[in-house]
Formats: sequence, structure tokens, C-alpha cells
Amino acid sequence: MNVVCLLGSPQKKGNSSAIAQRFCDTAEKSGASVATFALNELNYRGCQGCMACKTKRDDCALSDDLTEVLEAVRETDVLVLASPVYFWDVSSQLKTFIDRTFSYLTPGFMTNPVKSRLAPGKKLVFVLTQGNPDSSLFRDIFPKIDCFFKAYGFAESYLIRACGVRGPGEAEGREDVMALTQKTAEAICRA
Ligand SMILES: Cc1cc2nc3c(=O)[nH]c(=O)nc-3n(C[C@H](O)[C@H](O)[C@H](O)COP(=O)(O)O)c2cc1C
Repeated sequence: MNVVCLLGSPQKKGNSSAIAQRFCDTAEKSGASVATFALNELNYRGCQGCMACKTKRDDCALSDDLTEVLEAVRETDVLVLASPVYFWDVSSQLKTFIDRTFSYLTPGFMTNPVKSRLAPGKKLVFVLTQGNPDSSLFRDIFPKIDCFFKAYGFAESYLIRACGVRGPGEAEGREDVMALTQKTAEAICRA
């Protein structure tokens, strides 16, 4: 089983990365191959809205560091997306990647019964950390992203949240979150 993990935080040792790392370590121990990309270290642009992926080609016309990432996601079985909440949403690093996944949609996807260029059956694991301890806040973020990834053919999705974590190192102290992370990785990789 292949796992691709995208770290959306600029803090390499931050909370969302620590949870994603625990997922990946557990997945590796369960026999999966893992490729991790720290988005903040890559040079890439946002979707240009050029529609070349709908009219001329079946992938993104931009050629930059995200080209390899988009290709790896196409091939993977499991995708881990990790992000802090920044201003009520995902980080700009992750949002820019998500915009580029527009290239996964087929021409005429709004009415086309085949909406995705990706093989069906992939699994999405979404990791979200926030400083605010109130878990009722920012509940809207995951359903929006899940909706698009469902259209891409990610049949199963899992959400792992840590609320009330601020500085790096705080998520590691959340035993409930880390236990859920490990359990989720074991369950997915066993399947
Ligand atoms: C620019 C910026 C914006 C933030 N916006 C929010 C926010 O809207 N809501 C919130 O609860 N926490 C917010 N935070 C706090 C982070 O979500 C929190 O510290 C998170 O655990 C950081 O995750 P990371 O260590 O993976 O980067 C913000 C932090 C920064 C630096």
C-alpha cells in the first residue's frame, strides 16, 4: 500500500506535522511505503484557471515542484493532508495544492457522470490542528475538502483533529489524538 503525505504547515515540527508523522510511522510499520512532501519547501504556483487541463491535456499545464506531487497523489492508495487552521481555513500552502487538483477533474465534470481522472477507491486522511479549544469552531473545513476528494474518487475519508494546541510539541502530548491516529493508520493499512 502506498501513502502520500502532504504537510501543509510551515512548521516542520509543528502539531499537524507531528500527527501526520505518527500516522506515517505507523503505516510504515504496517508495511506501507510512504512519501512525504513538505509543501512549504516547494516552489509552486496556484491554479491559473487556464482550462488547459479541460481542453488540451489531462494534467496540469504548470510545470513546477507540484507536478511530482500531483503525479504521486494520482498513483497513491492513501493520501494524508495535514494543516493548521490559519484564519478559519487550511494554510495557504495546502489551499494552493487543492486548487491545483482541479486538473484531476474531467472535461464537463459538472454534468459528466465520470468526474475524476483518478482511479477509484483511494482513502483520504485529513489532519487539522487549531489553537482554539472549541471543537465546534472550524468544523466546516473538512466537509468542504472531503466533498471535492469524494468527487475525485476518494471513497473513504478520516478526520483527525487536535483543538487547543498552539506551540510545536503540544499535539504529541494529546494521547487521545495520537491513539486515534495510530488506530486509524493500523486499520487503513490492515485493510
Ligand atoms: C497565521 C496564523 C493564523 C491562525 N489562525 C487560527 C485560527 O483562525 N483559529 C485557530 O483556532 N487557530 C489559529 N492559529 C493557530 C494554529 O492553528 C495552531 O497553533 C496550530 O496548532 C498550528 O499547527 P502547526 O503547528 O501544525 O502549524 C493560527 C496561527 C497562525 C500562525
